Amino acid sequence: MVTLTYMPTEHVPVLAAELIRFGAPEPGETVIDCTFGGGGHSRLLAERLGPDGTLIAIDRDPAAAERFEAIAHDAPCETRFIRADFADALADLAAEGTAADLVVFDFGVSSIQIDAWERGFSYSFDAPLDMRMDPEAETSARDVVNEWPEVRIAETLRNNGDEQYARSIAREIVARRPLGTTSDLVEAVRAGVPPKVRFGRGNPAKRTFQAIRIAVNDELAAIDAALPTAWDLLAPGARLAAISFHSLEDRRVKRFLVERARGCVCPPEFPVCRCGLEPEGELITRGGVAPSPGEIADNPRSSSAHLRVARKLAPAAAETEPGAQS
Ligand SMILES: C[S@@+](CC[C@H](N)C(=O)[O-])C[C@H]1O[C@@H](n2cnc3c(N)ncnc32)[C@H](O)[C@@H]1O
Repeated sequence: MVTLTYMPTEHVPVLAAELIRFGAPEPGETVIDCTFGGGGHSRLLAERLGPDGTLIAIDRDPAAAERFEAIAHDAPCETRFIRADFADALADLAAEGTAADLVVFDFGVSSIQIDAWERGFSYSFDAPLDMRMDPEAETSARDVVNEWPEVRIAETLRNNGDEQYARSIAREIVARRPLGTTSDLVEAVRAGVPPKVRFGRGNPAKRTFQAIRIAVNDELAAIDAALPTAWDLLAPGARLAAISFHSLEDRRVKRFLVERARGCVCPPEFPVCRCGLEPEGELITRGGVAPSPGEIADNPRSSSAHLRVARKLAPAAAETEPGAQS
């Protein structure tokens, strides 16, 4: 393991052209960027909103708040930053009566966070075990590996990282307590996997780090809470766009948007619709959009990205008299 001096890096926005094309921000609109990160998407969105538009950016990382100042300074539109979990921030915006024309998510961590070695997101640097997007959050990776029962750690590695050797890695983690650094965790993983994986291609700790990061930041619960709130903030014609980086994220977005676009839920054997449910939305990117080979070559971190966009439809006109049974 090599310890490198921290070099501040930029985050290259992923699927940026596709986000602008399918999210279609227009002058004068209100856009909420729920995952400001390095501000790459926000900058492009702001350029399209013009003087009558509004960009609301959210991130729970205080370092993102600092980067926001630079973007707000140059932005042609009105801007506002909310430092919070996006699920909470969207609920507050809904309570304020905010209506959005486009809500954007770009899940996970930014390159800036991964490359800030001292934050412990990366298995490539020796650092204290942390992995919190919000450094004031209660639970860090150190708490997870040192305090959670072995069975819960194994479940986390299996569920959040699809880790085949979850049980033996969890056993090694518990046997080596206390673990203090990312190197301690990497060594526990290496001891918990068979030699063919330990000496195979790629770092065997990749899935464990992803799984623990997701648990530390409760990322999946935040997505589940945020999607319905974001949808409620959309006016008819407004869009929801989400970029996912692994199947746990993408499955949630897909299921949510497909349900909004489905309408009728009657069994196929029914000759006529009995449920009366109308689609609330339509899918703009039917199967989702992946990065081009050129983007992946330029930015390998984009390789697993997947963009889905849907538009909210106006409510269908009521077809039955008030009080009528359908
Ligand atoms: C992939 S980066 C976004 C990069 C950004 N789109 C850009 O172009 O620079 C994800 C960002 O979302 C933030 N984030 C992730 N989950 C969050 C949540 N539940 N609430 C608020 N911010 C979150 C992270 O702190 C990180 O800065």
